[in-house]
Amino acid sequence: ESKRSTKVLQILELVASYYHNALENAPKVIDYLKSRGVSSKSVQNFMLGYSPSSEDLVSFLKKEGVLDAYEKTGNLIKLDEGVYRDLFAGRIIIPIRDEKGNCIAFGGRLLQEGHPKYINSPESEFFKKRSVVFGLHQAREYIKEMGFVVVVEGYFDVISMHQEGYKNTVAPLGTAFSQDHAKVLSKYTKNAVLLFDGDNAGKKAVKLATPYLLFQGVNVKVAYLPEGEDPDTMARKDKEGLRTLIQNAQDIFQILIEEIKEGKSSSLKDFLYYASFVKDKVYQHELIKLASSASGLPVSLLYEQMPKVQKVEE
Ligand code: GTP
Ligand code: MN
Ligand code: MN
Ligand code: MN
Ligand code: MN
Repeated sequence: ESKRSTKVLQILELVASYYHNALENAPKVIDYLKSRGVSSKSVQNFMLGYSPSSEDLVSFLKKEGVLDAYEKTGNLIKLDEGVYRDLFAGRIIIPIRDEKGNCIAFGGRLLQEGHPKYINSPESEFFKKRSVVFGLHQAREYIKEMGFVVVVEGYFDVISMHQEGYKNTVAPLGTAFSQDHAKVLSKYTKNAVLLFDGDNAGKKAVKLATPYLLFQGVNVKVAYLPEGEDPDTMARKDKEGLRTLIQNAQDIFQILIEEIKEGKSSSLKDFLYYASFVKDKVYQHELIKLASSASGLPVSLLYEQMPKVQKVEE
């Protein structure tokens, strides 16, 4: 790590605390967070903040003597001589940290309806969206301790889950769950529970994430939320229901076996698709035997039907 990168990380941390301190003079943001049920403990734990205006940030950066250095992060755009725009102006700030806890980027949410609802810092040498796991710094010890990770879709899902005691929860940054995410998580645990939004996008996300996790040797359980809910809304509306969902999360292969027994042919297809990503050939064979007895089809035929070439980058 060069001197320059240490310096940039220091400035990002400085700006994170500036945003965090700005909450004190932003009662509307505090009200918004309260209305979402975010406790002040969560505000501290995730160091949530607010960007009051570009001008305010710029005068802070000038005072600290880091204006030019901060501009290079891409979070602040120079429009004209002495005129800047903070990408996050008017937004709630969610610091994004690497595994070690360094602030490497920000996420920003609008306080009201509008588009885009969220923005992230531009990519940089520190910040690669496809490999950053939000909440991992806070969650990593709990993931090891509890023996599994809960993967959700959004920032506030992570925040609410931690607040409710599910401190082993993380999320990708809005982007699709990638091979890199799977690789990072597999360092901490071989068991994942996917708790994605109760909508079509959430169901599709399960189908995308599962092969990557299986390929890294991570067992996948799935909990399906009621239609229209996400972990954050569920944590507020029905805590008991959320607990039951997570406790009863079922192994993806088990779910499919039940469906195969009911004669659902698309489930047999899905089963073989997922099974093809299992690297442990002994386990894969167990799976094929399970599918064989559930479907009544011979093991040899199922092997033939299993997709062969899998394009998962190592
Ligand atoms: P809330 O409305 O705050 O509860 O957001 P959500 O997390 O429930 O949003 P949603 O389920 O729509 O999206 C899940 C995640 O995708 C978010 O937490 C963001 O990380 C990301 N995301 C959502 N909308 C946008 C967007 O407009 N732009 C970008 N870059 N990311 C988004
Ligand atoms: Mn504080
Ligand atoms: Mn969604
Ligand atoms: Mn959501
Ligand atoms: Mn939500």
